[in-house]
Amino acid sequence: MSAERDASSYTLITGASGGLGLALAEAFARRGHNLILVARQREALESVACELTQRFGIEALFRTCDLAEPLQLSGLLQELEQGERRIDVLVNNAGIGTAGVFVEQDWAREQELIELNVLALSRLCHSIGGGMLKRGRGQILNVASLAAFQPGPLMSNYFASKAYVLHFSEGLRYEMAPHGVKVSVLCPGPVATPFFRNSQMKSGPLERHKLLADPEEVALLAVRGLEKNRAIIIPGWRNRLLPCLLRLAPRALVRRIAARSIVPLLPKR
Ligand SMILES: NC(=O)c1ccc[n+]([C@@H]2O[C@H](COP(=O)([O-])OP(=O)(O)OC[C@H]3O[C@@H](n4cnc5c(N)ncnc54)[C@H](OP(=O)(O)O)[C@@H]3O)[C@@H](O)[C@H]2O)c1
Repeated sequence: MSAERDASSYTLITGASGGLGLALAEAFARRGHNLILVARQREALESVACELTQRFGIEALFRTCDLAEPLQLSGLLQELEQGERRIDVLVNNAGIGTAGVFVEQDWAREQELIELNVLALSRLCHSIGGGMLKRGRGQILNVASLAAFQPGPLMSNYFASKAYVLHFSEGLRYEMAPHGVKVSVLCPGPVATPFFRNSQMKSGPLERHKLLADPEEVALLAVRGLEKNRAIIIPGWRNRLLPCLLRLAPRALVRRIAARSIVPLLPKR
């Protein structure tokens, strides 16, 4: 990953204003990557970019963009296409969750989830991955979740969006490999980030059972996995067992257990 980089090479990370994206930005900065950080909150992005530039002597730029707004995303992609900066690593990390009975949720928020978790991620892969393919080099890391391996009643849209990310990334990996572009997908279990609060969920039960991973740890394992060109990166040995167990278990049981594990995270109504 590092041998190919020079001063005009950049790593673009979405959702880098906080949570896992911030930890990923730091992990890449530590390895000397110049960064383009994307999210909606200008102040947070500015302070992350400033801090990483000072600490690691890299160039960290930022762009505010609501990736769930197709017009804003078009503007960002156009700017990137016309600019001089070459994106050699794309990290599609931005994502949101929704929880509760699907049809009782606000449709606008469910649509936003699909726009961000599915459409924006695919479009960024299409546009930036297209440039990588022409140059015959590049790396893409898409952030899915352990949720990608199972149906998730009471988080149906979120789990399905992550299943899309997993399968899409695996397909893309096969298509892009002969052209020198590497594609990996990160599938973390629960991580201690504002994700739960932002998704109107409670993380208390996960905290009490010490089930939340440290975002810096997950980011480090993600970057190492990317350096080894792993297809699917699952941080933590317990988490790595889950997809195997899910393949063996009856599907009805999987649905029931998934629902039961989500219920304690739902806010009281
Ligand atoms: N935390 C977990 O337990 C967990 C587990 C598995 C997978 N994941 C996945 O990891 C990724 C990062 O999640 P996280 O835990 O770091 O969540 P988070 O703390 O809520 O961070 C989400 C990031 O996405 C950005 N974002 C949200 N909506 C956006 C939009 N419309 N346009 C642009 N950026 C947007 C946010 O920045 P702004 O608000 O500034 O836009 C923020 O930087 C997600 O894809 C999530 O599904 C998380």
